[in-house]
Amino acid sequence: MEKYVIQGGRPLHGEVEISGAKNAAVAIIPAALMVHGTCRLENLPEISDTDTLLHILTYLGARVNMINRTTVEIDCTHVQMDILPERMWALTRKIRASYYLIGAMLGRFGRARTTMPGGCNFGVRPIDQHIKGLTALGADMDVSGGFITAGCPAGRLRGTTIYLDKVSVGATINIMIAAATAEGRTVIENVAREPHIVDLANFLNSMGADVRGAGTDTIKIRGVKQLHGGSYALIPDQIEAGTYMAAVAAAGGAVRVSNVIPKHLECISSKLREMAVEVEEGDDYVLVRRDGPLHRANLKTMPYPGFPTDMQPQMAAVLCCAPGNSTVTEGVWAGGRFKYVGELKKMGAQIEVEDQSAFIQGVDKLTGSVVKACDLRAGAAVVIAGLAAEGVTEVEDIIYIERGYQDLVGKFRALGADIRCVQVPEHSRSANWNAG
Ligand code: EPZ
Repeated sequence: MEKYVIQGGRPLHGEVEISGAKNAAVAIIPAALMVHGTCRLENLPEISDTDTLLHILTYLGARVNMINRTTVEIDCTHVQMDILPERMWALTRKIRASYYLIGAMLGRFGRARTTMPGGCNFGVRPIDQHIKGLTALGADMDVSGGFITAGCPAGRLRGTTIYLDKVSVGATINIMIAAATAEGRTVIENVAREPHIVDLANFLNSMGADVRGAGTDTIKIRGVKQLHGGSYALIPDQIEAGTYMAAVAAAGGAVRVSNVIPKHLECISSKLREMAVEVEEGDDYVLVRRDGPLHRANLKTMPYPGFPTDMQPQMAAVLCCAPGNSTVTEGVWAGGRFKYVGELKKMGAQIEVEDQSAFIQGVDKLTGSVVKACDLRAGAAVVIAGLAAEGVTEVEDIIYIERGYQDLVGKFRALGADIRCVQVPEHSRSANWNAG
């Protein structure tokens, strides 16, 4: 067991290089199952979710060859397995993206069976839109006993028009993957428009698919018989970049956030400017500076191009340090994904949650404490708070953070932060008083 130990109060200076996008990688790796040939993927993030999915593909019979730390060659030509063996269930239950295997296996083999997915636990995460879309393509879907089973009596899925009742990144991705080799034309209406949706479409097209309209609210796919091998470089991670931008806002300083697509950060940059943070855009970087007091602000998360929900906890942590009253409203996830609020209150934050909103009264200084990473972005939020706080903050359960952030300690240390990762002897772990 490990934890982060942060000595806060130090402004951040220097340059941070952003890694490949986690939410693109966890869609593209399962999609490689569809390809008869070798996919060379570059700019992969070195995170545990990527490792988990590459392990699963290896179990399924794919040849996975790490060329270097961020480049992999995957050959699924000889993969035959469409039912995940029991020894893989612990892996597929761990991550959200394991359900993309359903779309890929259906598209490749006409059959699929895997466990229900895992992923960050911040409330109910239904999959009804995935089921609706795959059923419309001609699959018989069964969700029971903790498993998802799919079969296509016709042998090959058939294109159709699908209208998503809810804008869903996951459902958009799963349906796109399955429809890539379905017979005929598929039109998906009311789709998600996130950068990683466009990245998946570009990956599929570089492997011979015919996917158009990604990034708009309608995607049109003309099914092809087979996908061929090729090379593809993933986009940089919008949320990792936003997390470092938020850290500069909270801790102060001046940092060049490199290897980004500024367009993907527009909503975050705009909100930070509203909070008196300087954000200057370059071709493939943003310069973020904060040396005066923060201004308060309100924000509401929405599907892209709205303010990203995956930046909600991080921005709340910053607003806890902004004088005045701010409101953070969660517009994507029912239940609000506010589990991090309890941890910030341990650090002296004045923040109360009501329904889908967190009401924040900025304080002069947060103070270090022993806190937990409740999920991936909640973990990022307490790290940001620890960097800004007076004194020492210990962050436990960092396994969640390591799922989605490549070398977070190394990158923050290079910016002058006093943060280190230390072993936690089992007996000394803080008691979970609110167990249950
Ligand atoms: C993806 O989750 C991301 N995860 C999440 O990021 C992100 O918060 C979310 O998209 C929204 O951007 C990955 O890409 C691995 P959704 P996903 O389907 O696909 C409802 C992170 O921090 N919904 O877009 O599970 C759902 O309840 C993670 O990197 C249905 O009702 O999210 C939610 O209210 C956390 N039925 C909304 O849609 C469905 O069938 C958006 O969910 C599917 C979703």
